[in-house]
Amino acid sequence: MAAAATRVPELALAALPADEREWVPQAPGVWFRPLLFNTVSGGWCNLLRVRRSGVLSRHRHPMAVVGYVIKGRWKYLEHDRTAEEGSFVFEPPGEVHTLTVPPDCTEMITFFNILGAMIYVDSAGVQTGYEDVWTKIDMCRAHYVQCGLGAAHVDRFVR
Ligand SMILES: [Fe+2]
Repeated sequence: MAAAATRVPELALAALPADEREWVPQAPGVWFRPLLFNTVSGGWCNLLRVRRSGVLSRHRHPMAVVGYVIKGRWKYLEHDRTAEEGSFVFEPPGEVHTLTVPPDCTEMITFFNILGAMIYVDSAGVQTGYEDVWTKIDMCRAHYVQCGLGAAHVDRFVR
């Protein structure tokens, strides 16, 4: 049996935070709440919160993504199906999709487990940006400094 000192610490926290500052601004009307940054396999778990409608992003994942819709609903333009509150979603590696929130949805919150990266693409499929576990950690650190929680606040989510 491995010594306890060699193990990565466990993590248990309230996913929906009491402190609004935990939500990291992603874009106008879009925030994410980090839950886990996995720097060993490369990936992260977060809640995505959206309080606007329309197209949010077009992106592809080199690896699988799974999610659970906690509140509201959304859909990918490339699919007929709408991910409703309570839905489980699986996004296969390599798929390009365009995330949209319908006009009658004032707030959606979805848990995502993202492996690898988010690769943002334009309508021609050309890469316009990317996010990985390191860029997400940097975003959180900058926000937590700015909002007063402090740079080290992000460390609790890093494994
Ligand atoms: Fe996706």
